[in-house]
Amino acid sequence: MATNDSPQFNRQLERFQPSAINAVFSLTNRLKAEGKDIIDLSIGEPDFNTPEHVKQEAIAAIRDNNTKYTPSDGTKALKLAVIEKFKRDNGLSYTLNQIAIDSGVKPLLFHLMKSLLDEGSEVIIPTPCWTSYPGMVMLAGAEPVFVRCPQEKGFKLQAEDLAAAITPKTRMVMLNSPGNPTGAAYSAEEMKPLTDVLLRHPHVWILADDIYEHIVFDDFKHVNPAALEPELLNRTITLNGVSKAYCMTGWRIGYAAGPEPVMRALLKVLSQGAGCPSSISQAAAVAALQGPQEYLKDWARIYQQRRDYLVSRLDAIPGIECNIPEGAFYLYPSCAGLVGKHTPDGTEISNSVDFVTYLLEAALVAVVPGSAFEYDPNFRLSYAASLEELEKACDRIDAAVLALT
Ligand SMILES: Cc1ncc(COP(=O)(O)O)c(C=O)c1O
Repeated sequence: MATNDSPQFNRQLERFQPSAINAVFSLTNRLKAEGKDIIDLSIGEPDFNTPEHVKQEAIAAIRDNNTKYTPSDGTKALKLAVIEKFKRDNGLSYTLNQIAIDSGVKPLLFHLMKSLLDEGSEVIIPTPCWTSYPGMVMLAGAEPVFVRCPQEKGFKLQAEDLAAAITPKTRMVMLNSPGNPTGAAYSAEEMKPLTDVLLRHPHVWILADDIYEHIVFDDFKHVNPAALEPELLNRTITLNGVSKAYCMTGWRIGYAAGPEPVMRALLKVLSQGAGCPSSISQAAAVAALQGPQEYLKDWARIYQQRRDYLVSRLDAIPGIECNIPEGAFYLYPSCAGLVGKHTPDGTEISNSVDFVTYLLEAALVAVVPGSAFEYDPNFRLSYAASLEELEKACDRIDAAVLALT
């Protein structure tokens, strides 16, 4: 029985730790509060502002008293805008009953997991992976099955590794392209072997997290698994949102498209556990999806410049090894070459957490250790920061690494 001395909690919470990002976040904030000039490259959100026409639509929504509850799975206006988006950007056709809106992709994913997973279900998660996937799977009582995607293979899931990981208990596979934390994105040639494997396993749901779809470089063409392999359409749920593409992280709108029975199950979960997304943010998201889209390419070009700069600077530092990401705004270099070295005060660098702590304390640059993403020894830098900041950060990292012996 629970008492004040031994309060009871959900036992799934014992299965995982809070995200390692939180530890970096706390130390970064403490140093900032002490007045230290920290360059913060740990953050996963765009540094641009929400476009003006989107803001105006939100202001109009408030003025028009569009401020009440909406249906649990979103307004018809936003669902129609989402249908139009999938047609325009992905060549995918959906009906209203195949769309759901939630307060961001993060809660949407969680609610989908609650809808699709049972205790003991296995969920294949290619690693490195976004920090939240494993915790969400465990909160749903299911089992994450990690499949390592080596840096030498561009951090991309290989068909034979996917095939080997699928069991009768596999309920779901997570695909995230371009991905967090690596920025790796699958071309059609790279995705095809994966969809071929998935065709052979009709008991598996495919969750495609396309949130970084619009941030791609060098004319890369984003590929969605259901668009590439229409036979997978009845098993694929595609997630996307306005956070990263339209610089609307704080507005909290994500959307999903998938088979009608999945959306019915999801609606059940949403109606009891979510309420509805903000009516004002939904109105703003309609403007984002239906308004001009050209500026997305301008932003992608700016990210690409920063990527190129960061890769060229970091790759030149002995002990650090970069891949060239196809998209998103992250770099995930290996620091394997620095493990075993010592800081000027004699501390040994034994893993990415030691290296990241050293960078933060000695170089005043905040990045995230690979342990947060189930793949080490690497670290994640976000280049959602100005070129000037990136230049300063690289100078500092360069000097800090040079000081290691
Ligand atoms: C891969 C991935 N999916 C989903 C999200 C969550 O996005 P949202 O702001 O829509 O909840 C993030 C945010 O960092 C992400 O990196």
